[in-house]
Amino acid sequence: MADVQEIEQMLAEALSAVESAATPQEIDDIRIRHLSRKGYITSILKSLKDLPVEKRKKIGAAANKARSALESSIKAAQERLASVKGISTLDPTLPGIASPVGALHPITTVMNRLCESFERMGFAIARGPDVETDYYNFEALNFPPDHPARDMQDTFYIEGEKVLRTHTTPVQARVLEKMKPPMKIIMPGKCYRNETISARAHCIFHQVDGFLVDEGVTMADLKGALYAFCKDFFGEDVRLKFRTSFFPFTEPSAEMDISCFLCKGKGCPLCKHYGWLEILGCGMIDPNVLALAGHDPEKYTGYAFGIGVERIAMLKYGITDIRLFYENDVRFIRQFRS
Ligand code: DAH
Repeated sequence: MADVQEIEQMLAEALSAVESAATPQEIDDIRIRHLSRKGYITSILKSLKDLPVEKRKKIGAAANKARSALESSIKAAQERLASVKGISTLDPTLPGIASPVGALHPITTVMNRLCESFERMGFAIARGPDVETDYYNFEALNFPPDHPARDMQDTFYIEGEKVLRTHTTPVQARVLEKMKPPMKIIMPGKCYRNETISARAHCIFHQVDGFLVDEGVTMADLKGALYAFCKDFFGEDVRLKFRTSFFPFTEPSAEMDISCFLCKGKGCPLCKHYGWLEILGCGMIDPNVLALAGHDPEKYTGYAFGIGVERIAMLKYGITDIRLFYENDVRFIRQFRS
């Protein structure tokens, strides 16, 4: 059975807890613990009848005093909290506060969509390092040392033989070295070039490269795959046009245009009234590239392509300045929440 000292100590603790309670819930918890039917004080009062008279008087007086002191302190605290606006009065008719929702960056969205489109055609994804060796970035791709084609890609050189990769094509050279045909791979990633930053060019950008190597692969397979991709990505009625081009790692090389998806080829500001939009580079993998990676170019042939992600995103969303992608202005990014 509790003694007077214990009751007083309990009261002191309960009063200070009421004093520091910040919510009606906390006050109610204290009330339940001490004053409810099974509460501490109530149970002392209930068991008084079993005590000898002298003890009953003393403990009864202390318990009754504790009960009324705690009751009035709880009442005061409830009034104190009720007068603080907004804490004890919940108005469910007030409009809610929306939490800000994040979104994927438009470049990420476009990269994911490009990859999904090729994955549905059976391409697997491979990735390589951003800090690349001169060998994979150039040499394995048939750029001989001092070849003028190296100037097409203004390179950031790091110490020794290391560069920041200027395209995602070096991943092709790495995969070719490791795997055996048939290979059907896409390679998304960041690229870096020492460019003067302008509305059309940035020193960081993204590409998705792809290639297929097997026996008997021809330019018709390349066209078929790219046609299927374009229909999936830009719409059923898209038309394609191949223009001859040059890349050291493909022979023959081509650049591919699609009919402008905005004006359907009639001519508009997006396609600069040309009716066509240039979207990627491609070609048949140069036999030298296959041989350097240890494959017999007499037995195997392959096609390859490289897509500039920013270019596709700019066309898709009608963005005229590439710098917007990297300035992290939330007003720009917010528009791509879907
Ligand atoms: N790597 C080229 C560039 O950055 C793009 C490219 C063209 C990639 C043709 C390819 C290809 O795989 O076959 O300009």
